[in-house]
Amino acid sequence: MAIKFGRPIEARTRLAPVGPAADAERLDLPTRLRRNRRSEWARRMTRENQLTTDDLIWPLFIMDGDNKRAPIASMPGVERLTIDQAVREAARAAKLTIPCLALFPYTDPGLRDETGSEALNPDNLVCRALRAIKKEVPDLGLLADVALDPFTSHGHDGLLRDGEILNDETVAVLVKQAVVQAEAGCDIIAPSDMMDGRVGAIRKALDAANFIDVSIMAYAAKYASVFYGPFRDAVGSSKTLTGDKRTYQMDFANTDEALREVALDIEEGADMIMIKPGLPYLDIVQRVKDAFAMPTFAYQVSGEYAMIMAASNNGWLDGERAMWETLTAFKRAGADGVLTYFAPRVAEKLKKG
Ligand code: PBG
Repeated sequence: MAIKFGRPIEARTRLAPVGPAADAERLDLPTRLRRNRRSEWARRMTRENQLTTDDLIWPLFIMDGDNKRAPIASMPGVERLTIDQAVREAARAAKLTIPCLALFPYTDPGLRDETGSEALNPDNLVCRALRAIKKEVPDLGLLADVALDPFTSHGHDGLLRDGEILNDETVAVLVKQAVVQAEAGCDIIAPSDMMDGRVGAIRKALDAANFIDVSIMAYAAKYASVFYGPFRDAVGSSKTLTGDKRTYQMDFANTDEALREVALDIEEGADMIMIKPGLPYLDIVQRVKDAFAMPTFAYQVSGEYAMIMAASNNGWLDGERAMWETLTAFKRAGADGVLTYFAPRVAEKLKKG
């Protein structure tokens, strides 16, 4: 591994005099934990958690057009891609042995409306991207959100009436969106809307349409978070969003409620569980993994990525080391994998060794 931050300390250890210093008595310690940390080989040998490319899900932002890439100001290093460019990145992901991509559309503002009807268009951007990538890189897993926010003029994940997000009416639409995406080749449907009962309804609809092998990764415990800001820039919903999402996304003060959310999603047929955001919610990741022993994923969201990149670009911390430390923290908390915008960079590093 290219990271060398152990060096100076090791050198000092080797140069340290053997035996107690003249003015200090040797402590009679039965256990000295520092022995296992003395050298790089010992640290490697006793390391408990190891990040691999199998742990990575790479989120991509898709836009209309040909052969174009557009930077996202609040997410340095991340770009919106036209479908042809996304296909290229998909091939790169497969080469890097990243198992799965998550696709998010930047919908043309002219196609957004009150009910998010573009979500049900079998030829919408995300469906075209799913088809194109499946065709060129068939062995790569493809995940897509089910929620209406990239398609609604008000930026909410559900249907809005008199200032209220309607639950059951929204679920009826999400079910159709899930089937449309499955038809386009989506392997994992990821409901990110936080309506009650949507996982069960989607499972039923997928089965009825003969998509029994399409999986569901539930955004099970998704908090109403400030850390989604840059993502909303990327999908173009930050300017349009009216109000906030606190009537459907979870209150960040709660933890028992997360267990109830997860329990319900498992009961309703979720194959995998996601916690979101990531780093500020590692306690939830750990509790959920311990309680349910399910395939459990964490989303290192756009704001977490932006914070690391901003500090790094200012020279305030080493971004690459922050990337390793945070991603390893997810493993330590019990996550089976992480959705992260760092995915290609980590995978490149892991490949080089
Ligand atoms: C859409 C959705 C959001 C994210 C993933 N899916 C934003 C939101 O709920 O407002 C956030 C991902 C990120 O910030 O990286 N429902």
